[in-house]
Amino acid sequence: MNPLINFAHRGASAVCPENTMSAFRKGLTLGATGIETDVQMTKDGALILIHDETLGRTTNGSGNVKDHTLKELLDLDAGSWFGEEFKGELLPTLEDLLDLLKDSDTVLNIELKNGVFMYPGMEEKVIAAVREFNMSERVILSSFNHYSLAHCKSLAPEIRTGILYGEGLYRPWDYAASLQADALHAYHFAVLPEFVSEAAEHGIAYHPWTVNDPERMKELIAAGVSGIITDYPDLLDRLLTAKGE
Ligand code: G3P
Ligand code: MG
Repeated sequence: MNPLINFAHRGASAVCPENTMSAFRKGLTLGATGIETDVQMTKDGALILIHDETLGRTTNGSGNVKDHTLKELLDLDAGSWFGEEFKGELLPTLEDLLDLLKDSDTVLNIELKNGVFMYPGMEEKVIAAVREFNMSERVILSSFNHYSLAHCKSLAPEIRTGILYGEGLYRPWDYAASLQADALHAYHFAVLPEFVSEAAEHGIAYHPWTVNDPERMKELIAAGVSGIITDYPDLLDRLLTAKGE
């Protein structure tokens, strides 16, 4: 059995400003074997790592990401909102993160944030960047926009896809198979142990999010999930080390 992937959600977002290079680097030092990040597209078509469609919560900018050029966005401070010691932290591009991980074994879960704004051409650009860095085997493309995931699979059958969903999807392994997807990225409350085993029988992995409670982590590990997405990769790492996984 492959080792469970410990995904740092938006990097080590409990201790660093989410989706910054500090958060990604910190995640790796805390035991993450995977990184989850969110990608949006700029006015001039660059891929930038930020969770929200808007700038106000995590930067000193305002308005929509899509209405700003990359140059404008790289002038913003994406760290001060979290703590004075992170002042001057920049919004990373997808290429910055691919460059950080290219010589490692780390799995990269790229969440395409194309549910609110469709960002035409985003799938092609993400896939081109992943291929340029020779990361196809270590990337999982995930999205709540399942049309986008189907499109990704048709463009790049060699890159894994993960279906993001919140609750109550009926026989999600059948749904995943219908999209030729590789994994179910479920809100963890929607995951029952019998779902995990049935999905595994259909060749579909489970990567629940966002699991920060150690007791819940233990339940999901026992259920046999293939990965866990957490703000606390150090906590999960300790549990996995104690179990010898
Ligand atoms: O990929 C799992 C998780 O990140 C999905 O929700 O809102 O944190 O991007 P969100
Ligand atoms: Mg996300």
